[in-house]
Amino acid sequence: MVCKLLCLLILVTFVTQGYGCDRSNLTLKQSQTGNLYKDVTEWEVRLTNPCPCDFKNVKLSCAGFQSVTTIDKSVLSKSGNDCLLIDGQAVGYKSDYVFTYVWATSFDFSIIDAAAACT
Ligand SMILES: *[C@@H]1O[C@H](CO)[C@@H](O)[C@H](O)[C@H]1NC(C)=O
Repeated sequence: MVCKLLCLLILVTFVTQGYGCDRSNLTLKQSQTGNLYKDVTEWEVRLTNPCPCDFKNVKLSCAGFQSVTTIDKSVLSKSGNDCLLIDGQAVGYKSDYVFTYVWATSFDFSIIDAAAACT
């Protein structure tokens, strides 16, 4: 009986935590890496997933995005003003995804879409 209650409580807590997460929990941060490529600033973009969920099909708004270095399509695939991250593959459970680009100024990325799969 005690276990039943306890197990239920744990389950409810776990489920609530899962449902308490959606793409608004994802954060994007940019910073200078401190490196230069041919005298141009290198920027790091860090997508942080604090949730016990996988986020697939992460799309960023990336109007005008360019890089002096080539960004592989498997990292960021630009189509119009949107960029798909890692071919739509999941940014996993409580992990970060990081990529870098090189440009004189930073671009104004923001997360416009992501599909959460919470367990
Ligand atoms: C996700 O965001 C919601 C609403 O802001 C917050 O209550 C919850 O704690 C966040 N989850 C994590 C894992 O940060």
